[in-house]
Amino acid sequence: MKNYEFITLEGIEGVGKSTAIQVVKRILEEKGRDVVITREPGGTAIGEKVRDILLSTQNNEMSPVSELFLLLAARAQHLAEVVSPALASGKCVVCDRFFDATFAYQGAGRGLDISIIKSATDLISPFFIPTLTLLLDAPVEVGFQRIKNRGHTDRFEEQNRVFFERIRASYLNRARLEPKRFCVIDASQSLGEVSNSIELILQDKFDS
Ligand SMILES: Nc1ncnc2c1ncn2[C@@H]1O[C@H](COP(=O)(O)OP(=O)(O)OP(=O)(O)O)[C@@H](O)[C@H]1O
Ligand SMILES: [Mg+2]
Repeated sequence: MKNYEFITLEGIEGVGKSTAIQVVKRILEEKGRDVVITREPGGTAIGEKVRDILLSTQNNEMSPVSELFLLLAARAQHLAEVVSPALASGKCVVCDRFFDATFAYQGAGRGLDISIIKSATDLISPFFIPTLTLLLDAPVEVGFQRIKNRGHTDRFEEQNRVFFERIRASYLNRARLEPKRFCVIDASQSLGEVSNSIELILQDKFDS
């Protein structure tokens, strides 16, 4: 295993990404790696402000193209301020959502043309391709059940079930097209089983 790795976690709402990222961090640290965990949209002071705009239910009039460019603005800042310096100094970066989410949410979800997303994404991040993407996959209902007691709903979570079915299918399709980069984990399993799956994948991909 190289000293540095760029690992991303993907999946629909509530499948367990933020929980799993801590598992990835622990395993990598046990292997002696210096780990930075971060998230998109967000990960920087500017990016977190953009995240608030993106998630606020007061911004329901936002057009899909505005949404795309806000996300990309946050990403450009995140790459410059967090990801790039961390990788350059030999750290492992583990990110809760990255460009696959843009294709899944703004493409399959919002219906933007994939070629527009690809061009815009390449404009800001042609060189940042994750070395490994863990796709946590579970039925939409499982994710919804897990977050239903949170007490608030964001602008994406307000979307209907069909929206998330499209996103789930898009993620699975991307995983099929790039089997070397993606590992799909059955996120409907118990937390212990998901952790074991992650451990096996990391052992298999990276020798310690
Ligand atoms: N495998 C699991 N089995 C049961 N519960 C889980 C599992 N993984 C996570 N959870 C619980 O489900 C809830 C949602 O998990 P988490 O916040 O990690 O999901 P997420 O994918 O990051 O959600 P979001 O898309 O909203 O950011 C949390 O309460 C977490 O403890
Ligand atoms: Mg989360």
